[in-house]
Amino acid sequence: MRIILYSGKGGVGKTSFSAATAVRAASLGRRTLVVSTDAAHSLADALGVAIKGEPTPVAKNLDGLEIDVNRELADHWGVIQEWLTQFMTFQGVNDAVAEEIAIFPGMEELFSLLKVKKYAETDAYDVVVIDCAPTGETVRMLGVPEVLNFYFKRIFPVQRTVLRSVRPVAKRMTDMPLPGDNVFGAVKTLFEELEGMAPLLKDPARSSIRIVLNPERMVINESQRLYTYLNLFGFPVDAVIANRVLPPAARSEYFDKWFDIQAGHLAEARQSFEPLPFFQARLFDREMVGLPLLDEMAREVFGDRDPAGVFFQERPIEVRKEGKGYAMYIRLPFAEKDRIQVWTKGEELVVSVDNQRRHILLPRSLASRRLMGAAFKEQRLRVQFGEKERHAE
Ligand SMILES: Nc1ncnc2c1ncn2[C@@H]1O[C@H](COP(=O)(O)OP(=O)(O)OP(=O)(O)O)[C@@H](O)[C@H]1O
Ligand SMILES: [Mg+2]
Repeated sequence: MRIILYSGKGGVGKTSFSAATAVRAASLGRRTLVVSTDAAHSLADALGVAIKGEPTPVAKNLDGLEIDVNRELADHWGVIQEWLTQFMTFQGVNDAVAEEIAIFPGMEELFSLLKVKKYAETDAYDVVVIDCAPTGETVRMLGVPEVLNFYFKRIFPVQRTVLRSVRPVAKRMTDMPLPGDNVFGAVKTLFEELEGMAPLLKDPARSSIRIVLNPERMVINESQRLYTYLNLFGFPVDAVIANRVLPPAARSEYFDKWFDIQAGHLAEARQSFEPLPFFQARLFDREMVGLPLLDEMAREVFGDRDPAGVFFQERPIEVRKEGKGYAMYIRLPFAEKDRIQVWTKGEELVVSVDNQRRHILLPRSLASRRLMGAAFKEQRLRVQFGEKERHAE
């Protein structure tokens, strides 16, 4: 089973490529599901057929699905959100504001992925293609499990223990809303679901993210940032697709300047994303809507290659023994030294790039060692761990 996610800045062609990849995979005989997790769905428009909130047959071997994002949010977070809202209202936060801030940005997308995982596990499909929301939403989503993890592992167990003993007293003394067992139950379920999803999405043999871009300055910059963050969180990217490249047939006095601009950006993007495979799609002479055009689009871009294949594999994080100590290597393409911070916190290594922060639970072999230093070179962060610290028993 393969999962392929298309991500990129707004309007670059994510939906078109998700649909094209799925149509082609299905025509190659793969049982394929194409899913949109973008709250502003346009998958049905791209395919030219109506799609529901459940897998809907679109063509032979092909089902489509537009996830009901609000329903997923309510199912996974409703109980927790209700309690958080009550809690914040009690603290003096205005109702409407409390309800808003009880939802972390990026959650809708994250919970939609949990739903996708369920379909991916049914064995009903060989390929699941995911049409993601634009970059901003995806980047916000990346950090959510880390934040939740923090809550789940640190705050809830402690609160629960404390609450067990104080609840009867607290109930009498104050009106402060206390989380009930249903809240803890919801947290536990969510935690387990999230824990189960990470290994699937981070396994380059099973999941790949593809970055779609257009040959334009701002789009390339945003794509590079996306790539950095995806690496930071350990998500495998297997290709870049430059879409809307002007074809020779579009040569004209009016467009000639654009040819030069695009050529410059394309050369730079291709080189900067190396060694990732770099595909190009021309700007077609019409909107790419409907199964025949999508199939044509996929054939033009991927040729005879199976669009559901794995185009590139590399684990973003590696640990190596070096001398008496160890070094952890984290690929952070396009990052700069000034934007990176590294520190340890208990058994975790915390790495931040801009305001994206990842807590990496250190393997046992590293957790007992002292952090000796970190250096950023050739797009990789090298974190050095020294000899084992001897603890007085
Ligand atoms: N190479 C192309 N040639 C011609 N039209 C294209 C091409 N790629 C995409 N389009 C058209 O551009 C429009 C936007 O593409 P699409 O919806 O795939 O972008 P998106 O990245 O999913 O956008 P959003 O961020 O809004 O979800 C669509 O009408 C699509 O048919
Ligand atoms: Mg789209």
